[in-house]
Amino acid sequence: MSNSGTDLTNNAKLLAWVKEMAALCKPDQVHWVDGTQEENDRLCGELVDAGIFIKLNPEKRPNSYLARSHPSDVARVEDRTYICSENKDDAGPTNNWMAPSEMRPLLAEKFDGCMKGRTMYVIPFSMGPLGSPIAHIGVQVTDSAYVVVNQRIMTRMGKKVLDVLGDDGTFIPCVHSVGAPLEPGQEDSAWPCEGDPSNKYIVHYPESREIWSYGSGYGGNALLGKKCFALRIASAMARDEGWLAEHMLILGLESPEGEKTYVGAAFPSACGKTNLAMLIPPEGFEGWKAWTVGDDIAWIKPGPDGTLRAINPEYGYFGVAPGTSYDTNPTAMDSIKEGCIFTNVALTDDGDVWWEGIDGDPPAHAIDWKGNDWTPASETPASHPNARFTAPSANCPSIDPSWEDPAGVPISAFIFGGRLSKTFPLVYQSLDWNHGVFMAATMGSEATAAAIGQAAIRRDPFAMLPFCGYNMAKYWGHWVKMGERSDLKLPQIFRVNWFRKDANGKFIWPGFGQNMRVLQWIVDRVNGKADAVESPFGMMPKYQAINWSGLDFDKETYDGLMTINKDEGLAEVAEIRGHFDTFGDALPAEMETERQAFGERLAAGPDQWNLPS
Ligand code: OXD
Ligand code: MN
Repeated sequence: MSNSGTDLTNNAKLLAWVKEMAALCKPDQVHWVDGTQEENDRLCGELVDAGIFIKLNPEKRPNSYLARSHPSDVARVEDRTYICSENKDDAGPTNNWMAPSEMRPLLAEKFDGCMKGRTMYVIPFSMGPLGSPIAHIGVQVTDSAYVVVNQRIMTRMGKKVLDVLGDDGTFIPCVHSVGAPLEPGQEDSAWPCEGDPSNKYIVHYPESREIWSYGSGYGGNALLGKKCFALRIASAMARDEGWLAEHMLILGLESPEGEKTYVGAAFPSACGKTNLAMLIPPEGFEGWKAWTVGDDIAWIKPGPDGTLRAINPEYGYFGVAPGTSYDTNPTAMDSIKEGCIFTNVALTDDGDVWWEGIDGDPPAHAIDWKGNDWTPASETPASHPNARFTAPSANCPSIDPSWEDPAGVPISAFIFGGRLSKTFPLVYQSLDWNHGVFMAATMGSEATAAAIGQAAIRRDPFAMLPFCGYNMAKYWGHWVKMGERSDLKLPQIFRVNWFRKDANGKFIWPGFGQNMRVLQWIVDRVNGKADAVESPFGMMPKYQAINWSGLDFDKETYDGLMTINKDEGLAEVAEIRGHFDTFGDALPAEMETERQAFGERLAAGPDQWNLPS
């Protein structure tokens, strides 16, 4: 077995681990990824030769490729995702759990010889700017060249990471195999993976801080720096070390006076998180700028002065393509002009990409994500609903000048939201830290029609439901503890709801760039420049406290967005009890205290609470 690149490092622990993984997985060869352009070009060429990549028309989409996954390998597999802590209680009721003593032998069997006939790539990567005190290093071994070239966009990787790691540095070991060994002479498929969904395993050992992923080549299952490391393992590290690993975008808002305020914001899926991360201030906000630091994940550590400093641990965007257009998100469209990998979108006859919801008319003919002819008359969509672009952050026109600052950016506010058609006002601020933790612990989106019969709100606490690497209720306890630290300058906490509907079922709030109006109030509030009135939900802006320049939005409609119906509020308080009950003894007492206080504030108020004029 050849092993090219061992000369890139003298780190004994890393060399020994790679040797051990090679002995287990039995690849034909081992290749240490140096991260150079030449290496990337060679791998992309090999992927084209293997039929896994299609090179897009360089005039339309320079330096970009299309991949089509196996139709069974199109999304994260939450039911195959495990948190293998020693004790079941430490994984909590919202995670799949198996004892390490049971999982380890099972995986040993799966990984034994799983890379036969393939190359094992060794990818050293840094989550966060190289050498930043907030960043951490991982090393992923994988038998997928598709993963290597995606990781080169999504993370800082290669030789430069080994240089930072040095001879004694530590790393998070991440083992990945598509689970499709090749017998001698066997022809490879265009998207090798484990065909039986019940044989896929996305496994995390939070105590020994390891990730083992078997059977899938797609997205969060395979790009192990993202959800597996930066959220599941990092959340456990953050708990132990006193910091926060969050499923949050990071946005910088710069006033016309040049004052910059950074916010971290968490939303469940389908709430426009990427759009908010790339927001363009609307008409009436001349002089304001919105800067993107991150679109998905934030690592937040206390700085020397007690402010919470955030980095985006990623280096690129792995965004959902369908629905992305110059209309909904021009910044994202400009970010995917070149140097991108598209997966499961449609291919146009002139060698470009297409998806449902992109600008303009559908093409008369295209090749769909399964490789079949497609026309607008076809009954199936041209691109898979979870089709993705992998795009370098450096392409983003609104990228914050400080996005690579190793010290991170100071966070002044946390914003949490969900998709809720009633009960919840457009925006409110928590009364204090624990109330804010309560607001985030109880967030969620309304269940869709398909889920009727279950709770009306599908709770997604902190938008971390599939991503918290330990007991969710203990994670709330960690947030409560952070709030008790007198050495920290804590951000203020807000909830927003862009999705309240009127009696005719129409959205009341225009959303998208207009959300800037709410963001400005939040910014003014944390900078001590805006007033608020107390409601049973929290502190709320009166009509006059919002900047309405450039938008005709009358006071009556606004006040309607901010009313609180006592019965609806009390029903929410009762429903939250059921949500809390699922966590048993692990529930921090502070959360039940907040629930009761919320109920008492509602009970003491009028049947219909309205903003004072
Ligand atoms: C993502 C997700 O892909 O949250 O970012 O599912
Ligand atoms: Mn996400």
